Amino acid sequence: MISLQNLTKVFDDASGSEHALAGVSLEIADGDAFGIIGISGAGKSTLVRCVNLLERPTSGRVVVDGVDVTDLHGAALRQYRQRVAMIFQGFGLLSQKTALDNVCFPFLAASGRVSAEDRKRAQELLELVDLGDKALSYPAQLSGGQKQRVAIARALATKPEYLLCDEATSALDPASTESVLDVLRRVNEERGVTLLVITHSMDVVRSICKNVAVLVKGQVVEQGPVEQIFAAPEHETTKALLGRGRWNG
Ligand SMILES: Nc1ncnc2c1ncn2[C@@H]1O[C@H](COP(=O)(O)OP(=O)(O)OP(=O)(O)O)[C@@H](O)[C@H]1O
Ligand SMILES: [Mg+2]
Repeated sequence: MISLQNLTKVFDDASGSEHALAGVSLEIADGDAFGIIGISGAGKSTLVRCVNLLERPTSGRVVVDGVDVTDLHGAALRQYRQRVAMIFQGFGLLSQKTALDNVCFPFLAASGRVSAEDRKRAQELLELVDLGDKALSYPAQLSGGQKQRVAIARALATKPEYLLCDEATSALDPASTESVLDVLRRVNEERGVTLLVITHSMDVVRSICKNVAVLVKGQVVEQGPVEQIFAAPEHETTKALLGRGRWNG
């Protein structure tokens, strides 16, 4: 379980201080598919980047299975990051490498070599994301949805317990989005990987999330089971995101 305890993140720059997170407390249970929604600038990306410690929170704690990970460094941080994989809008694939070699990359990064066993596992992961026949294709030869599925296969190489998805389908057309959501649903339901899904699409939340939190100016204003929040949104921002704001009647 991931427990975020009163997280704050302040960015200081020439124009002053920006409170990207202003005291976020959330619990994400094992096996959950937890959505985070909010308008642009609400702090969603900052929040997930604090979960895998790409950003250090200014204050507050990130506690995973009862262990405080907030201040991990070095080998312990690398070990923690293997448990918490991430995919994002731009896919982040290596363009000079085949799909299979992209999926093998975490093995290479971890041990400096790729064994026959690693390649076998990478091929299995490509099959899991329905790309068993694209192992030797290069990213440029794949559709957006296929590229994101290669990125998911790569993210799963280290057998993570959590998969953080930051606008993972935002660059995709509806059919590609559907193929990626299908895979994410399977990864959650069949492999038991807990999903933390950031999206601006209410359809994505409806399609794969069990619980959802609404972030406004770095604070959680509403959270609960998706069907409950979507049926009876209380906060003005939630209503607006769902297209039921005052201005929509
Ligand atoms: N590295 C940074 N330096 C300074 N300010 C930052 C930095 N990263 C984020 N911010 C600020 O923190 C706030 C939250 O940004 P964040 O990227 O988390 O929002 P978001 O909800 O992901 O938005 P979007 O939906 O547009 O992706 C914004 O006001 C942003 O300008
Ligand atoms: Mg963002």
